[in-house]
Amino acid sequence: MSPENSGPAAVIVLAAGAGTRMKSRTPKILHEIGGRSLIGHALAAARTIAPRELALVVRHERDLVASHVAALDPDALIVDQDDVPGTGRAVEAALEALDALDAFDSRGPLSGTVVVTYGDVPLLTGALLAELVATHEADANAVTVLTAVLDDATGYGRILRAADGTVTGIREHKDATEAERAIREINSGIYAFDAAVLRGSLGHVTTDNAQGEKYLTDVLGLARAAGGRVAAVVTEDRWQVEGANDRVQLAALGAEHNRRTVEAWMRSGVTVVDPATTWIDATVTLDEDVRLLPNTQLHGATTVARDAVVGPDTTLTDVHVGEGATVVRTHGTGATIGAKASVGPFTYLRPGTVLGETGKIGAFYETKNVTIGRGSKLSHLGYAGDAEIGEDTNIGCGNITANYDGDKKHRTVIGSGVRTGSNTVFVAPVRLGDGAYSGAGAVIRHDVPAGALALSLAEQRNTEGWVIAKRPGTISAALAAAAGSKAAAPTTSHTPAPTEEG
Ligand code: UD1
Ligand code: CA
Repeated sequence: MSPENSGPAAVIVLAAGAGTRMKSRTPKILHEIGGRSLIGHALAAARTIAPRELALVVRHERDLVASHVAALDPDALIVDQDDVPGTGRAVEAALEALDALDAFDSRGPLSGTVVVTYGDVPLLTGALLAELVATHEADANAVTVLTAVLDDATGYGRILRAADGTVTGIREHKDATEAERAIREINSGIYAFDAAVLRGSLGHVTTDNAQGEKYLTDVLGLARAAGGRVAAVVTEDRWQVEGANDRVQLAALGAEHNRRTVEAWMRSGVTVVDPATTWIDATVTLDEDVRLLPNTQLHGATTVARDAVVGPDTTLTDVHVGEGATVVRTHGTGATIGAKASVGPFTYLRPGTVLGETGKIGAFYETKNVTIGRGSKLSHLGYAGDAEIGEDTNIGCGNITANYDGDKKHRTVIGSGVRTGSNTVFVAPVRLGDGAYSGAGAVIRHDVPAGALALSLAEQRNTEGWVIAKRPGTISAALAAAAGSKAAAPTTSHTPAPTEEG
Protein backbone atom coordinates (compact mmCIF):
# COMPACT_ATOMS: atom_id res chain seq x y z
CA MET A 1 0.00 0.00 0.00
CA SER A 2 1.60 3.27 -1.04
CA PRO A 3 1.01 6.49 0.94
CA GLU A 4 -0.93 7.91 -2.01
CA ASN A 5 -3.68 5.34 -1.48
CA SER A 6 -3.58 4.74 2.24
CA GLY A 7 -7.27 5.65 2.67
CA PRO A 8 -10.37 3.44 2.50
CA ALA A 9 -10.51 0.31 0.35
CA ALA A 10 -12.75 2.04 -2.20
CA VAL A 11 -14.95 4.98 -2.99
CA ILE A 12 -17.98 4.19 -5.15
CA VAL A 13 -19.47 7.25 -6.87
CA LEU A 14 -23.06 6.74 -8.04
CA ALA A 15 -23.88 8.44 -11.32
CA ALA A 16 -26.22 6.19 -13.27
CA GLY A 17 -29.33 8.35 -12.84
CA ALA A 18 -30.82 10.25 -15.77
CA GLY A 19 -31.10 13.68 -14.17
CA THR A 20 -34.16 14.55 -16.28
CA ARG A 21 -35.01 17.72 -14.30
CA MET A 22 -31.96 19.43 -15.78
CA LYS A 23 -33.86 19.36 -19.14
CA SER A 24 -30.62 19.20 -21.06
CA ARG A 25 -28.96 17.26 -23.84
CA THR A 26 -25.85 17.33 -21.68
CA PRO A 27 -25.83 14.63 -18.97
CA LYS A 28 -26.47 16.25 -15.59
CA ILE A 29 -23.12 15.38 -14.05
CA LEU A 30 -21.26 17.06 -16.94
CA HIS A 31 -22.82 20.44 -16.10
CA GLU A 32 -20.29 22.73 -14.45
CA ILE A 33 -19.92 24.96 -11.46
CA GLY A 34 -16.68 26.66 -10.49
CA GLY A 35 -15.06 25.61 -13.77
CA ARG A 36 -15.43 21.91 -13.07
CA SER A 37 -18.12 19.38 -13.97
CA LEU A 38 -20.27 18.06 -11.12
CA ILE A 39 -18.61 14.67 -11.52
CA GLY A 40 -15.21 16.42 -11.53
CA HIS A 41 -15.99 17.84 -8.08
CA ALA A 42 -17.14 14.42 -6.83
CA LEU A 43 -13.97 12.73 -8.10
CA ALA A 44 -11.72 15.43 -6.63
CA ALA A 45 -13.35 15.04 -3.19
CA ALA A 46 -13.06 11.24 -3.42
CA ARG A 47 -9.37 11.43 -4.37
CA THR A 48 -8.49 13.57 -1.35
CA ILE A 49 -9.17 10.61 0.97
CA ALA A 50 -6.80 8.45 -1.11
CA PRO A 51 -8.91 5.33 -1.72
CA ARG A 52 -7.18 2.23 -3.03
CA GLU A 53 -9.88 1.95 -5.71
CA LEU A 54 -12.30 4.49 -7.13
CA ALA A 55 -15.32 3.21 -9.04
CA LEU A 56 -17.97 5.21 -10.87
CA VAL A 57 -21.34 3.66 -11.67
CA VAL A 58 -22.85 4.84 -14.98
CA ARG A 59 -25.79 4.04 -17.22
CA HIS A 60 -27.46 7.18 -18.58
CA GLU A 61 -25.36 8.66 -21.45
CA ARG A 62 -22.75 6.10 -20.52
CA ASP A 63 -20.21 6.82 -23.28
CA LEU A 64 -20.21 10.59 -22.84
CA VAL A 65 -19.74 10.25 -19.09
CA ALA A 66 -17.09 7.54 -19.44
CA SER A 67 -14.95 9.55 -21.85
CA HIS A 68 -15.22 12.68 -19.70
CA VAL A 69 -14.12 10.72 -16.64
CA ALA A 70 -11.33 8.91 -18.51
CA ALA A 71 -9.82 12.32 -19.29
CA LEU A 72 -10.24 13.64 -15.72
CA ASP A 73 -9.28 10.57 -13.74
CA PRO A 74 -7.91 7.74 -15.90
CA ASP A 75 -7.53 5.41 -12.91
CA ALA A 76 -11.24 5.50 -12.05
CA LEU A 77 -13.03 2.21 -12.77
CA ILE A 78 -16.15 2.71 -14.89
CA VAL A 79 -18.91 0.29 -13.91
CA ASP A 80 -22.10 -0.23 -15.90
CA GLN A 81 -25.35 -0.67 -14.02
CA ASP A 82 -27.88 -3.04 -15.58
CA ASP A 83 -31.64 -2.50 -15.90
CA VAL A 84 -32.40 -3.24 -12.25
CA PRO A 85 -33.08 0.21 -10.77
CA GLY A 86 -31.93 1.63 -7.46
CA THR A 87 -28.93 2.80 -5.51
CA GLY A 88 -28.54 -0.67 -3.98
CA ARG A 89 -28.17 -2.22 -7.41
CA ALA A 90 -25.67 0.46 -8.42
CA VAL A 91 -23.44 -0.30 -5.42
CA GLU A 92 -23.82 -4.05 -5.99
CA ALA A 93 -22.58 -3.64 -9.57
CA ALA A 94 -19.57 -1.63 -8.36
CA LEU A 95 -18.71 -4.19 -5.65
CA GLU A 96 -18.82 -7.02 -8.17
CA ALA A 97 -16.52 -5.13 -10.53
CA LEU A 98 -14.11 -4.24 -7.71
CA ASP A 99 -14.08 -7.82 -6.43
CA ALA A 100 -13.39 -9.07 -9.96
CA LEU A 101 -10.52 -6.58 -10.23
CA ASP A 102 -9.07 -7.76 -6.93
CA ALA A 103 -9.51 -11.43 -7.87
CA PHE A 104 -7.56 -10.67 -11.04
CA ASP A 105 -4.81 -9.16 -8.88
CA SER A 106 -5.13 -12.20 -6.54
CA ARG A 107 -5.73 -9.86 -3.58
CA GLY A 108 -9.03 -11.58 -2.66
CA PRO A 109 -12.35 -9.74 -2.39
CA LEU A 110 -12.42 -6.15 -1.23
CA SER A 111 -12.27 -5.73 2.56
CA GLY A 112 -12.23 -2.74 4.89
CA THR A 113 -14.09 0.54 4.39
CA VAL A 114 -16.13 1.27 1.29
CA VAL A 115 -17.39 4.84 0.90
CA VAL A 116 -20.39 5.66 -1.28
CA THR A 117 -20.94 9.17 -2.68
CA TYR A 118 -22.99 10.75 -5.49
CA GLY A 119 -21.75 12.26 -8.73
CA ASP A 120 -24.08 15.27 -8.44
CA VAL A 121 -23.18 16.61 -4.97
CA PRO A 122 -20.42 19.10 -5.85
CA LEU A 123 -19.78 20.90 -2.55
CA LEU A 124 -18.93 17.78 -0.55
CA THR A 125 -15.36 18.19 0.69
CA GLY A 126 -12.63 15.65 1.21
CA ALA A 127 -12.43 16.89 4.82
CA LEU A 128 -16.02 15.85 5.56
CA LEU A 129 -15.48 12.48 3.84
CA ALA A 130 -12.34 11.98 5.93
CA GLU A 131 -14.32 12.76 9.09
CA LEU A 132 -16.98 10.22 8.06
CA VAL A 133 -14.34 7.53 7.48
CA ALA A 134 -12.47 8.36 10.72
CA THR A 135 -15.67 8.07 12.82
CA HIS A 136 -16.69 4.90 11.01
CA GLU A 137 -13.35 3.21 11.63
CA ALA A 138 -12.77 4.53 15.18
CA ASP A 139 -16.19 3.23 16.29
CA ALA A 140 -15.86 -0.02 14.30
CA ASN A 141 -19.26 0.61 12.69
CA ALA A 142 -20.87 -1.62 10.11
CA VAL A 143 -22.43 1.44 8.46
CA THR A 144 -21.97 5.17 9.10
CA VAL A 145 -24.31 7.48 7.23
CA LEU A 146 -23.81 11.20 6.66
CA THR A 147 -26.97 13.10 7.62
CA ALA A 148 -28.22 16.67 7.88
CA VAL A 149 -31.23 18.29 9.53
CA LEU A 150 -33.28 20.26 7.02
CA ASP A 151 -36.27 22.60 7.41
CA ASP A 152 -37.92 20.91 4.45
CA ALA A 153 -36.98 17.24 4.18
CA THR A 154 -39.49 16.46 1.40
CA GLY A 155 -38.26 13.80 -1.01
CA TYR A 156 -35.33 12.62 1.09
CA GLY A 157 -34.95 9.36 2.95
CA ARG A 158 -35.55 9.99 6.69
CA ILE A 159 -33.22 8.81 9.45
CA LEU A 160 -35.02 6.52 11.90
CA ARG A 161 -33.66 6.53 15.46
CA ALA A 162 -34.58 4.56 18.58
CA ALA A 163 -35.56 6.39 21.76
CA ASP A 164 -31.91 6.39 22.88
CA GLY A 165 -30.85 8.03 19.59
CA THR A 166 -29.40 4.89 17.97
CA VAL A 167 -29.85 4.91 14.20
CA THR A 168 -32.13 2.02 13.30
CA GLY A 169 -32.67 2.57 9.60
CA ILE A 170 -33.70 4.86 6.76
CA ARG A 171 -37.22 5.26 5.36
CA GLU A 172 -37.65 6.58 1.82
CA HIS A 173 -40.09 9.50 1.52
CA LYS A 174 -42.44 7.52 -0.72
CA ASP A 175 -42.59 4.62 1.74
CA ALA A 176 -42.85 6.78 4.88
CA THR A 177 -45.86 7.21 7.19
CA GLU A 178 -47.09 10.71 8.09
CA ALA A 179 -45.22 10.48 11.39
CA GLU A 180 -41.97 9.46 9.64
CA ARG A 181 -42.36 12.30 7.15
CA ALA A 182 -42.26 14.74 10.08
CA ILE A 183 -38.64 13.68 10.72
CA ARG A 184 -36.26 16.43 9.54
CA GLU A 185 -33.01 14.45 9.70
CA ILE A 186 -32.29 13.26 6.17
CA ASN A 187 -30.05 10.71 4.48
CA SER A 188 -27.45 12.49 2.34
CA GLY A 189 -26.80 9.27 0.40
CA ILE A 190 -23.15 9.41 1.46
CA TYR A 191 -21.96 6.54 3.64
CA ALA A 192 -19.03 4.51 4.92
CA PHE A 193 -19.66 0.75 4.94
CA ASP A 194 -17.73 -2.26 6.06
CA ALA A 195 -17.16 -4.08 2.76
CA ALA A 196 -18.18 -7.53 4.04
CA VAL A 197 -21.37 -6.19 5.67
CA LEU A 198 -22.24 -4.29 2.51
CA ARG A 199 -21.72 -7.33 0.29
CA GLY A 200 -23.68 -9.62 2.62
CA SER A 201 -26.59 -7.20 3.09
CA LEU A 202 -26.99 -6.26 -0.57
CA GLY A 203 -27.65 -9.93 -1.29
CA HIS A 204 -30.81 -9.63 0.81
CA VAL A 205 -32.10 -6.31 -0.52
CA THR A 206 -35.31 -6.70 -2.54
CA THR A 207 -37.30 -4.38 -4.79
CA ASP A 208 -40.34 -4.76 -2.55
CA ASN A 209 -41.08 -1.06 -1.98
CA ALA A 210 -43.10 1.90 -3.32
CA GLN A 211 -40.66 2.49 -6.21
CA GLY A 212 -39.77 -1.12 -7.11
CA GLU A 213 -36.07 -0.29 -6.68
CA LYS A 214 -33.20 -1.97 -4.88
CA TYR A 215 -32.66 0.55 -2.06
CA LEU A 216 -29.13 0.93 -0.73
CA THR A 217 -30.81 2.39 2.36
CA ASP A 218 -32.15 -1.08 3.25
CA VAL A 219 -28.57 -2.08 4.10
CA LEU A 220 -28.76 -0.13 7.38
CA GLY A 221 -31.65 -2.17 8.78
CA LEU A 222 -30.12 -5.44 7.52
CA ALA A 223 -26.70 -4.62 9.00
CA ARG A 224 -28.29 -3.86 12.34
CA ALA A 225 -30.35 -7.07 12.28
CA ALA A 226 -27.09 -8.95 11.68
CA GLY A 227 -25.62 -7.39 14.82
CA GLY A 228 -23.59 -4.56 13.27
CA ARG A 229 -23.28 -1.05 14.66
CA VAL A 230 -25.07 1.60 12.59
CA ALA A 231 -24.39 5.26 13.28
CA ALA A 232 -24.62 8.72 11.75
CA VAL A 233 -22.33 11.70 11.30
CA VAL A 234 -24.57 14.78 11.29
CA THR A 235 -23.27 17.74 9.33
CA GLU A 236 -24.32 21.33 10.07
CA ASP A 237 -23.31 22.31 6.55
CA ARG A 238 -26.29 21.43 4.36
CA TRP A 239 -24.49 22.64 1.19
CA GLN A 240 -22.11 19.70 1.42
CA VAL A 241 -24.92 17.19 0.99
CA GLU A 242 -26.99 19.12 -1.55
CA GLY A 243 -27.41 17.66 -5.04
CA ALA A 244 -27.90 19.63 -8.24
CA ASN A 245 -31.10 18.27 -9.73
CA ASP A 246 -32.18 21.24 -11.86
CA ARG A 247 -30.67 24.46 -13.13
CA VAL A 248 -32.00 26.50 -10.21
CA GLN A 249 -30.10 24.28 -7.78
CA LEU A 250 -27.09 24.32 -10.11
CA ALA A 251 -26.93 28.13 -9.95
CA ALA A 252 -27.41 28.18 -6.17
CA LEU A 253 -24.64 25.60 -5.71
CA GLY A 254 -22.43 27.52 -8.15
CA ALA A 255 -22.90 30.76 -6.20
CA GLU A 256 -22.16 29.03 -2.90
CA HIS A 257 -19.12 27.28 -4.36
CA ASN A 258 -17.84 30.65 -5.53
CA ARG A 259 -18.58 32.31 -2.19
CA ARG A 260 -16.45 29.62 -0.51
CA THR A 261 -13.64 29.86 -3.05
CA VAL A 262 -13.47 33.67 -2.84
CA GLU A 263 -13.54 33.54 0.95
CA ALA A 264 -10.72 30.99 1.04
CA TRP A 265 -8.55 33.23 -1.18
CA MET A 266 -9.26 36.27 0.96
CA ARG A 267 -8.23 34.28 4.03
CA SER A 268 -4.97 33.40 2.31
CA GLY A 269 -4.10 37.01 1.55
CA VAL A 270 -5.90 38.06 -1.64
CA THR A 271 -7.81 41.37 -1.64
CA VAL A 272 -11.22 40.96 -3.25
CA VAL A 273 -12.96 44.32 -3.41
CA ASP A 274 -16.37 42.91 -4.35
CA PRO A 275 -16.78 39.20 -3.56
CA ALA A 276 -20.28 39.13 -5.05
CA THR A 277 -19.08 40.00 -8.57
CA THR A 278 -15.79 38.12 -8.45
CA TRP A 279 -15.89 34.56 -9.81
CA ILE A 280 -12.96 32.22 -9.32
CA ASP A 281 -12.81 28.66 -10.65
CA ALA A 282 -11.67 25.84 -8.38
CA THR A 283 -8.62 25.43 -10.65
CA VAL A 284 -7.23 29.00 -10.32
CA THR A 285 -4.14 29.87 -8.24
CA LEU A 286 -3.53 33.26 -6.63
CA ASP A 287 -0.56 34.61 -4.67
CA GLU A 288 -0.57 36.76 -1.57
CA ASP A 289 -1.31 40.46 -2.06
CA VAL A 290 -3.07 40.01 -5.37
CA ARG A 291 -5.89 42.57 -5.75
CA LEU A 292 -9.05 41.64 -7.61
CA LEU A 293 -11.31 44.56 -8.56
CA PRO A 294 -15.08 44.24 -9.11
CA ASN A 295 -16.58 42.11 -11.85
CA THR A 296 -13.55 39.92 -12.45
CA GLN A 297 -13.85 36.28 -13.57
CA LEU A 298 -10.85 33.98 -13.38
CA HIS A 299 -11.18 30.62 -15.09
CA GLY A 300 -9.31 27.44 -15.85
CA ALA A 301 -5.60 27.25 -15.12
CA THR A 302 -5.28 31.02 -14.56
CA THR A 303 -2.57 32.07 -12.10
CA VAL A 304 -1.98 35.54 -10.69
CA ALA A 305 1.32 36.39 -9.03
CA ARG A 306 1.99 38.60 -6.01
CA ASP A 307 1.04 42.31 -6.13
CA ALA A 308 -0.73 42.02 -9.49
CA VAL A 309 -4.02 43.92 -9.88
CA VAL A 310 -6.76 42.39 -12.05
CA GLY A 311 -10.00 44.17 -12.97
CA PRO A 312 -12.38 45.79 -12.95
CA ASP A 313 -14.45 44.04 -15.63
CA THR A 314 -11.92 41.40 -16.64
CA THR A 315 -12.35 37.78 -17.72
CA LEU A 316 -9.23 35.61 -17.86
CA THR A 317 -9.14 31.95 -18.88
CA ASP A 318 -5.84 30.04 -18.68
CA VAL A 319 -3.93 33.30 -18.33
CA HIS A 320 -0.75 33.75 -16.28
CA VAL A 321 -0.42 37.20 -14.76
CA GLY A 322 3.07 38.11 -13.57
CA GLU A 323 4.12 39.78 -10.34
CA GLY A 324 2.99 43.39 -10.05
CA ALA A 325 1.24 43.40 -13.44
CA THR A 326 -2.01 45.29 -14.01
CA VAL A 327 -4.85 43.97 -16.17
CA VAL A 328 -7.79 46.34 -16.64
CA ARG A 329 -11.06 45.65 -18.52
CA THR A 330 -9.57 42.80 -20.48
CA HIS A 331 -10.85 39.57 -22.03
CA GLY A 332 -7.99 37.08 -22.21
CA THR A 333 -7.49 33.40 -23.03
CA GLY A 334 -4.28 31.38 -23.08
CA ALA A 335 -1.99 34.38 -22.54
CA THR A 336 1.06 35.09 -20.39
CA ILE A 337 1.54 38.58 -18.96
CA GLY A 338 5.01 39.39 -17.64
CA ALA A 339 5.96 40.96 -14.32
CA LYS A 340 5.06 44.66 -14.00
CA ALA A 341 3.48 44.60 -17.47
CA SER A 342 0.22 46.41 -18.14
CA VAL A 343 -2.79 45.38 -20.19
CA GLY A 344 -5.98 47.27 -21.00
CA PRO A 345 -8.40 48.87 -20.85
CA PHE A 346 -10.55 47.21 -23.54
CA THR A 347 -8.01 44.64 -24.63
CA TYR A 348 -8.57 41.22 -26.18
CA LEU A 349 -5.76 38.74 -25.56
CA ARG A 350 -6.11 35.57 -27.60
CA PRO A 351 -4.18 32.30 -27.19
CA GLY A 352 -0.42 32.44 -27.58
CA THR A 353 -0.02 36.04 -26.47
CA VAL A 354 3.16 36.41 -24.42
CA LEU A 355 3.87 39.88 -23.05
CA GLY A 356 7.33 40.45 -21.57
CA GLU A 357 8.22 42.15 -18.30
CA THR A 358 7.20 45.82 -18.07
CA GLY A 359 5.64 45.59 -21.51
CA LYS A 360 2.29 47.10 -22.45
CA ILE A 361 -0.70 46.13 -24.55
CA GLY A 362 -2.97 49.14 -24.35
CA ALA A 363 -6.48 50.19 -25.22
CA PHE A 364 -8.44 48.57 -28.05
CA TYR A 365 -5.80 46.03 -28.94
CA GLU A 366 -6.30 42.47 -30.12
CA THR A 367 -3.39 40.05 -29.93
CA LYS A 368 -2.92 36.42 -30.90
CA ASN A 369 0.12 34.19 -31.13
CA VAL A 370 2.53 37.00 -30.49
CA THR A 371 5.64 37.17 -28.34
CA ILE A 372 6.41 40.66 -27.12
CA GLY A 373 9.82 41.31 -25.54
CA ARG A 374 10.63 43.06 -22.30
CA GLY A 375 9.65 46.73 -22.17
CA SER A 376 7.97 46.79 -25.58
CA LYS A 377 4.77 48.76 -25.92
CA LEU A 378 1.73 48.37 -28.14
CA SER A 379 -0.15 51.26 -26.63
CA HIS A 380 -3.28 51.90 -28.64
CA LEU A 381 -5.62 50.59 -31.32
CA GLY A 382 -4.28 47.68 -33.26
CA TYR A 383 -3.94 44.01 -34.04
CA ALA A 384 -0.80 41.94 -33.50
CA GLY A 385 -1.02 38.32 -34.62
CA ASP A 386 1.50 35.65 -35.61
CA ALA A 387 4.32 37.99 -34.70
CA GLU A 388 7.46 38.30 -32.68
CA ILE A 389 8.48 41.66 -31.27
CA GLY A 390 11.85 42.30 -29.62
CA GLU A 391 12.66 44.34 -26.51
CA ASP A 392 12.08 48.07 -25.91
CA THR A 393 10.21 48.43 -29.18
CA ASN A 394 7.43 50.99 -29.54
CA ILE A 395 4.62 50.08 -31.87
CA GLY A 396 2.74 53.24 -32.90
CA CYS A 397 -0.99 53.85 -32.73
CA GLY A 398 -3.18 51.82 -35.06
CA ASN A 399 -0.57 49.34 -36.27
CA ILE A 400 -1.77 46.10 -37.81
CA THR A 401 -0.09 42.84 -38.72
CA ALA A 402 -1.72 41.76 -41.96
CA ASN A 403 -0.95 38.11 -41.26
CA TYR A 404 -3.53 36.42 -43.45
CA ASP A 405 -3.31 36.44 -47.23
CA GLY A 406 -6.74 34.84 -47.58
CA ASP A 407 -5.17 31.43 -47.69
CA LYS A 408 -2.29 31.08 -45.23
CA LYS A 409 -1.11 32.84 -42.07
CA HIS A 410 2.34 34.45 -42.16
CA ARG A 411 4.70 35.80 -39.51
CA THR A 412 5.88 39.31 -38.79
CA VAL A 413 9.22 39.58 -37.02
CA ILE A 414 10.07 42.94 -35.49
CA GLY A 415 13.41 43.55 -33.77
CA SER A 416 14.37 45.40 -30.60
CA GLY A 417 14.44 49.18 -30.24
CA VAL A 418 12.10 49.61 -33.21
CA ARG A 419 9.82 52.69 -33.53
CA THR A 420 6.89 52.37 -35.89
CA GLY A 421 4.75 55.28 -37.09
CA SER A 422 1.00 55.49 -36.65
CA ASN A 423 -1.05 53.26 -38.92
CA THR A 424 1.83 51.09 -40.06
CA VAL A 425 0.65 47.87 -41.70
CA PHE A 426 2.99 44.86 -41.71
CA VAL A 427 2.16 42.70 -44.73
CA ALA A 428 3.50 39.33 -43.56
CA PRO A 429 5.78 37.56 -44.05
CA VAL A 430 8.02 40.49 -43.28
CA ARG A 431 10.91 41.41 -40.96
CA LEU A 432 12.09 44.66 -39.40
CA GLY A 433 15.65 44.72 -38.07
CA ASP A 434 16.74 46.16 -34.72
CA GLY A 435 16.38 49.91 -34.40
CA ALA A 436 14.32 50.26 -37.60
CA TYR A 437 11.76 53.06 -37.98
CA SER A 438 8.62 53.37 -40.09
CA GLY A 439 6.74 56.53 -41.03
CA ALA A 440 3.03 57.17 -40.49
CA GLY A 441 0.82 55.10 -42.76
CA ALA A 442 3.68 52.92 -43.98
CA VAL A 443 2.66 49.66 -45.63
CA ILE A 444 5.61 47.38 -44.97
CA ARG A 445 5.67 44.82 -47.79
CA HIS A 446 9.42 44.24 -47.81
CA ASP A 447 11.94 43.58 -45.07
CA VAL A 448 13.38 46.66 -43.36
CA PRO A 449 17.08 46.41 -42.50
CA ALA A 450 18.33 47.34 -39.03
CA GLY A 451 18.41 51.08 -38.48
CA ALA A 452 16.55 51.92 -41.73
CA LEU A 453 13.52 54.24 -42.04
CA ALA A 454 10.72 52.70 -44.06
CA LEU A 455 8.27 54.98 -45.83
CA SER A 456 5.70 53.98 -48.42
CA LEU A 457 4.20 57.24 -49.49
CA ALA A 458 2.21 58.54 -52.42
CA GLU A 459 2.64 62.29 -52.60
CA GLN A 460 -0.18 64.37 -51.16
CA ARG A 461 -2.11 66.52 -53.69
CA ASN A 462 -4.16 69.60 -52.71
CA THR A 463 -6.77 70.83 -55.22
CA GLU A 464 -7.35 74.48 -54.34
CA GLY A 465 -10.94 75.79 -54.43
CA TRP A 466 -12.43 72.29 -54.89
CA VAL A 467 -15.03 72.62 -52.10
CA ILE A 468 -16.50 75.93 -53.26
CA ALA A 469 -16.67 74.59 -56.84
CA LYS A 470 -18.01 71.11 -56.12
CA ARG A 471 -19.98 71.52 -52.85
CA PRO A 472 -21.69 74.87 -53.20
CA GLY A 473 -24.24 75.74 -50.52
CA THR A 474 -22.65 73.62 -47.83
CA ILE A 475 -21.34 74.84 -44.51
CA SER A 476 -17.92 73.66 -45.65
CA ALA A 477 -18.12 75.90 -48.74
CA ALA A 478 -19.29 78.89 -46.66
CA LEU A 479 -16.49 78.50 -44.15
CA ALA A 480 -13.92 77.90 -46.90
CA ALA A 481 -15.03 81.15 -48.61
CA ALA A 482 -14.83 83.02 -45.29
CA ALA A 483 -11.30 81.67 -44.90
CA GLY A 484 -10.38 83.12 -48.29
CA SER A 485 -10.70 80.07 -50.57
CA LYS A 486 -11.72 80.94 -54.12
CA ALA A 487 -13.69 78.86 -56.63
CA ALA A 488 -11.36 80.02 -59.35
CA ALA A 489 -10.01 77.54 -61.86
CA PRO A 490 -8.65 74.76 -59.69
CA THR A 491 -4.92 74.49 -59.31
CA THR A 492 -3.09 71.58 -57.80
CA SER A 493 -0.06 71.83 -55.60
CA HIS A 494 2.22 69.04 -54.53
CA THR A 495 3.55 68.95 -51.04
CA PRO A 496 6.52 66.82 -50.11
CA ALA A 497 5.61 64.05 -47.70
CA PRO A 498 6.64 64.34 -44.06
CA THR A 499 9.31 61.92 -42.92
CA GLU A 500 8.93 62.04 -39.18
CA GLU A 501 7.21 59.37 -37.09
CA GLY A 502 3.44 59.85 -36.77
C1 UD1 B 1 -31.50 8.57 -2.46
C2 UD1 B 1 -31.68 7.83 -1.15
C3 UD1 B 1 -32.36 8.76 -0.14
C4 UD1 B 1 -31.53 10.02 0.04
C5 UD1 B 1 -31.29 10.68 -1.31
C6 UD1 B 1 -30.34 11.84 -1.17
C7 UD1 B 1 -31.97 5.51 -1.75
C8 UD1 B 1 -32.94 4.40 -1.93
N1 UD1 B 1 -32.49 6.67 -1.39
O1 UD1 B 1 -32.75 8.94 -2.96
O2 UD1 B 1 -32.50 8.11 1.10
O3 UD1 B 1 -32.18 10.92 0.93
O4 UD1 B 1 -30.72 9.74 -2.23
O5 UD1 B 1 -30.28 12.53 -2.37
O6 UD1 B 1 -30.79 5.32 -1.89
N2 UD1 B 1 -28.32 6.22 -8.89
C9 UD1 B 1 -27.69 5.20 -9.57
N3 UD1 B 1 -28.42 4.15 -9.99
C10 UD1 B 1 -29.76 4.06 -9.76
C11 UD1 B 1 -30.40 5.10 -9.06
C12 UD1 B 1 -29.64 6.17 -8.63
O7 UD1 B 1 -26.48 5.27 -9.80
O8 UD1 B 1 -30.35 3.07 -10.19
C13 UD1 B 1 -27.54 7.37 -8.45
C14 UD1 B 1 -28.01 8.68 -9.08
O9 UD1 B 1 -27.31 8.96 -10.28
C15 UD1 B 1 -27.69 9.68 -7.99
C16 UD1 B 1 -27.84 8.89 -6.71
O10 UD1 B 1 -27.72 7.54 -7.07
O11 UD1 B 1 -26.36 10.13 -8.07
C17 UD1 B 1 -29.16 9.14 -6.01
O12 UD1 B 1 -30.23 8.85 -6.88
P1 UD1 B 1 -31.63 9.59 -6.75
O13 UD1 B 1 -32.60 8.92 -7.60
O14 UD1 B 1 -31.43 11.05 -6.87
O15 UD1 B 1 -31.95 9.38 -5.18
P2 UD1 B 1 -33.15 8.66 -4.51
O16 UD1 B 1 -33.06 7.21 -4.79
O17 UD1 B 1 -34.38 9.37 -4.78
CA1 CA C 1 -31.72 12.91 -5.76
